[in-house]
Amino acid sequence: MRTILEERKFPVDKIRYFASPNSVGKVLPWKGNEITVEDANSGEYGGIDIALFSAGATASIELAPKVADQGALVIDNSSAWRMDPEVPLVVPEVNGHALSDIRKGIIANPNCTTIVAMSALKALDRIGSLRKLVVSTYQAVSGAGLAGVNELAKQLSDKEGQLMWLAYDGRAVDFGKPVTFVGPIAANVLPIAGTLVDEETNEEHKFRDESRKILELPELEVSVTCVRVPVFTGHSVSIYAELGREVSTAEATRALSEAPGVKVVDLPNPLDSAGRDQCLVGRIRKDPGSRPAINFFVSGDNLRKGAALNAIQIAEAVIKNRA
Ligand SMILES: NC(=O)c1ccc[n+]([C@@H]2O[C@H](COP(=O)([O-])OP(=O)(O)OC[C@H]3O[C@@H](n4cnc5c(N)ncnc54)[C@H](OP(=O)(O)O)[C@@H]3O)[C@@H](O)[C@H]2O)c1
Repeated sequence: MRTILEERKFPVDKIRYFASPNSVGKVLPWKGNEITVEDANSGEYGGIDIALFSAGATASIELAPKVADQGALVIDNSSAWRMDPEVPLVVPEVNGHALSDIRKGIIANPNCTTIVAMSALKALDRIGSLRKLVVSTYQAVSGAGLAGVNELAKQLSDKEGQLMWLAYDGRAVDFGKPVTFVGPIAANVLPIAGTLVDEETNEEHKFRDESRKILELPELEVSVTCVRVPVFTGHSVSIYAELGREVSTAEATRALSEAPGVKVVDLPNPLDSAGRDQCLVGRIRKDPGSRPAINFFVSGDNLRKGAALNAIQIAEAVIKNRA
């Protein structure tokens, strides 16, 4: 968030950093100055115009209303407020108009995997009316925060010289007890991303529920399987998008090329998406089945568009609306 605020020359007169008691007193830079991290539970939030929250749902449920009550507009990265009917859930280039109705002083930033697919899906809805999505995700470890990044990096570095033996036997390397993920993530693919809440995971629920809210299609059918892959950053999504009318590959490609925040490429992949703002879309093709549908693949940076960038784009849109 700090990097993106600077990159985009976001208008900031004064910045304050808050965290848990673990980080209080730590010093972090801002444009050549040193800013001391404050305790987020201090209750001292006066004079703040915009508060960018990214401390998880538990902290957000408690703190966001308190900060909003003291006059700040909260833009929250967690899942806490996303499905609250009084809280807009916004990808500015898709449903920025929802920002005209901010009732609780809180705006929710969507789930990182959902955001990556939204502008492309909106473009297809505009030309062909979305009816149904069948989705498989390929989610990077940084989607589970620093703990996820550290777990993959450690498993890979600890066993560096032994990895080739996995070609013959998946048990040839002992990666140790998984902590953040449901199994070893190095050299593996885990078809449970997030936690099981019923027959589905919370990540699968988020993708369905948030897509419906952002695209304003409450009846949209969404079948989704969320998978964690050994990629550091860059969530990818493979999508079958069923439409209300026949759309050719050329027409879909044209619409996707014009979608804001999207770049159409031959080979979308997480490595190319990490560190850039646009979501990469490719493998666009008409589905060969009996129903009108387009298949495509999208990769996007879950820390930028999936989190920090989208939050700051929301802040920019709010400022523009107020001007
Ligand atoms: N990673 C992604 O791709 C992504 C994308 C979209 C949304 N999100 C959401 O963003 C939130 C944060 O995710 P993350 O990946 O950034 O996690 P993370 O790397 O684990 O960082 C969490 C941060 O929250 C702070 N924190 C925890 N409890 C706090 C409290 N009670 N008060 C104040 N600060 C507190 C921690 O501070 P300390 O270091 O002081 O403990 C830490 O800096 C989650 O809700 C996540 O679902 C993540």
